[in-house]
Amino acid sequence: MSTTTAVKEQIEVDFTPKEHYGDWRDEFQREGCIILRNVISPERAKYYADKQIEWLKNFELGFDEKDESTWTAEHLPVSFRGGRYFYGVTHEKSVWEARTEPGVIDAFAKLWETEELLCSFDGIKIDLPRRKDVKWTPWPHCDHNPDIKGLTCVQGMLNFAPSGPKDGGLIWMKGSAKVFNEFFAEKRKNEDADNHQHKHQEFFKFHDDHVKWFEERGYEFTKLELGPGDLALWDSRTVHHSCFAEGDQIRHAQYICMMPKRFATEEALKMKKYCFEHYMPNTHLPHRNIFPATDKPIRDGALCPKDRSEPFEKPVLTDAVLKLAGVKPY
Ligand SMILES: [Fe+2]
Repeated sequence: MSTTTAVKEQIEVDFTPKEHYGDWRDEFQREGCIILRNVISPERAKYYADKQIEWLKNFELGFDEKDESTWTAEHLPVSFRGGRYFYGVTHEKSVWEARTEPGVIDAFAKLWETEELLCSFDGIKIDLPRRKDVKWTPWPHCDHNPDIKGLTCVQGMLNFAPSGPKDGGLIWMKGSAKVFNEFFAEKRKNEDADNHQHKHQEFFKFHDDHVKWFEERGYEFTKLELGPGDLALWDSRTVHHSCFAEGDQIRHAQYICMMPKRFATEEALKMKKYCFEHYMPNTHLPHRNIFPATDKPIRDGALCPKDRSEPFEKPVLTDAVLKLAGVKPY
């Protein structure tokens, strides 16, 4: 079936959760976030972590995962905030394989009570610990437009390597999505000067006073402790950021968001098809605000000579990939 014609864009999505599920969805509805353990096996998680290392090495810039002296910008492709990458990586074969892992699809299918899902074209995350050439500043934020009051997206992060207290990883304020409207009832100044998605307005950066507002109401930042194969899901109104990796472990993760296809307009699907066919990344949103990305990797003030517009390994165009990309009907 196809419900994609004449659909009105659903900014605040039309989804009423049940009062009681008797499973993890109760906690998700209560807190706006949840960690699902072992949605993929440790072996699969290691495969994806290894593929990320292989991808870094494909650039032939001298990066060696066993030699910390090469964990510097000159040996690495250009990244956003030291760990998220350009270069068509969002459409690498292994990145699509992770999106089509049955455990990942099942989690979103259960959450949304439909198998007819679209997947975001967002990025991978590789954090090399103790990097001396990266200036780390906390940036508590939400990937949600403050003018949108209801639920608009559930974000996901699939974790591939152990992430303990000292390792780089996601930090969130559990439950903070519930007071999003209360916080934004007052006009708040958005300080997202370094945000490349600003013009698309799906972002808000919280400064210290804002964080204090949440803390005074009992919300606190928690560093997620994740094992390989764990999936974190959060309502995009949740205050979150990530911490600098200080331990020995390289952080490996991938952002994966899925939303029901019925929320996407025909126009959004057309744009999504264009982005898919041109190996372009998008925001965390799978179903709307789709636009061809214009960001380029800049190295020393010029376009990175290693810039590329295609993945090293193109995705296998399985039914699952084409459906999640929105280019094949369900
Ligand atoms: Fe975020």
